[in-house]
Amino acid sequence: MDRPVVFFILGGTGDLARRKLYPAIQSMLRKGKLKNLSKIFALGRKREKLEETLAKADPVFKRIFEFVEFDLTDRKSYKRLSEAVSTLSGKELIFYLALPPQLFEQAVVNLGALLRDFTNPRKLVIEKPFGLDLSSAKKLNFLLEKYFSEEEIYRIDHFLGKVPVQNIFALRFSNYIFEGVWNKNFIDHIQISALEEEGVEGRVGYYDSVGALRDMVQNHLLQILSFIAMEPPSVVETESIRDEKVKVLKSLRKLSPEEVSRQVVKAQYEGYSQEVGRVSNTETFVALKLYIDNFRWQDVPFYLRTGKRLKEKKTLAVVVFKKVPGNFRSFLGCAPPQNMLTVEIAPGNRLKLSINMISPQKLEACPLEGSMELDLVRELGEIPSAYETLIEDIISGDRTLFVRGDEVEAAWEIVQPILDSWEETKDIETYKEGTYGPESAFELIERNGRRWVN
Ligand code: BG6
Repeated sequence: MDRPVVFFILGGTGDLARRKLYPAIQSMLRKGKLKNLSKIFALGRKREKLEETLAKADPVFKRIFEFVEFDLTDRKSYKRLSEAVSTLSGKELIFYLALPPQLFEQAVVNLGALLRDFTNPRKLVIEKPFGLDLSSAKKLNFLLEKYFSEEEIYRIDHFLGKVPVQNIFALRFSNYIFEGVWNKNFIDHIQISALEEEGVEGRVGYYDSVGALRDMVQNHLLQILSFIAMEPPSVVETESIRDEKVKVLKSLRKLSPEEVSRQVVKAQYEGYSQEVGRVSNTETFVALKLYIDNFRWQDVPFYLRTGKRLKEKKTLAVVVFKKVPGNFRSFLGCAPPQNMLTVEIAPGNRLKLSINMISPQKLEACPLEGSMELDLVRELGEIPSAYETLIEDIISGDRTLFVRGDEVEAAWEIVQPILDSWEETKDIETYKEGTYGPESAFELIERNGRRWVN
């Protein structure tokens, strides 16, 4: 659509805006995209924070960029905003909440009230974390729906903007060869890992009140899980796709307190409390095992893990197929490795299928593991950053890669029993920086004869 669009970035001087949004917008402008973006208002308190961004910015970006002094708690700020909006008749207004989560409610209510005086088409973009638990997420949804229609709301999960994640959908539903094996009869288990080398540099305040379960599992990892486990949608269209993802989340088995203690590992890297400056029991690592109670996935474990200050940055989804049946397990005494289909989301953008082979000897020779790889960058050329894809979709009005209200709540339904159970036990295991996490994370998967794939 060619209607002129104006961005209002609340938190416009903050870390997210400076590190992700402005570079993404600039990259798109350089590629000649965003032709209908007529203005970006960066709303924030301190202009100085933008100095570096502006010093490095392209002239095209600078031309449409304007800082507006804005304090969320100050009435005069809203008056100024209202005046700015009154000069924009006929333009589409996009309000992007790049704010700390504790400010979301206030921003939604105040913006909602302000916009009642205007008839401009509008969109509201909201970053994660969407609520801090099930009840706060419900409250936030309630407020959003009071002032905006679901069609106007874009809940961001930036993992959905990543091309390898989108390719899980394409892999499954545009390659019929996988459908026959994509179930409990052929798949032994699934692993989803988001390992990070970095700690919580510069974000201690946010991170310490949230922890790894809310920061990564409730959103990013469950979104990847939904793409892997969903049924084919009846049509390839936004709401049908979201419906199928919601069904997966609703079929995830909720954990009892006993299951939480057996199936969920929480841990913290050794130097964390020192970094925070007080004794904290916030987890910087989580590993868990989930089950989906439906026909396709009954009894297939889904292992999820994420953590900070680990050995390497790696984001992977791995589908591990079953072992070959009994009689064939022993080729000259060695069992063929299980086939694996890996979606590498970081550091590379790759799909990989492991295939066993034998060297030119005898049929009974010990099979060797080989692999077939599809490098998405090599195949597709340059891959846009997650935020480029998402900003483009926001402007064009495609909500497929955004999270629906009921979907967010369904994800919290899974996480809430874990949070409740953790309320009872404050103990936390520690792990050494630069490793693959605590001993219990290995125990969680190895007790069933499996192993983490890195
Ligand atoms: C964010 C989390 O949503 O995702 C961060 O808040 C995390 O803690 C980041 O580091 C990881 O994203 P990416 O794209 O760098 O893998």
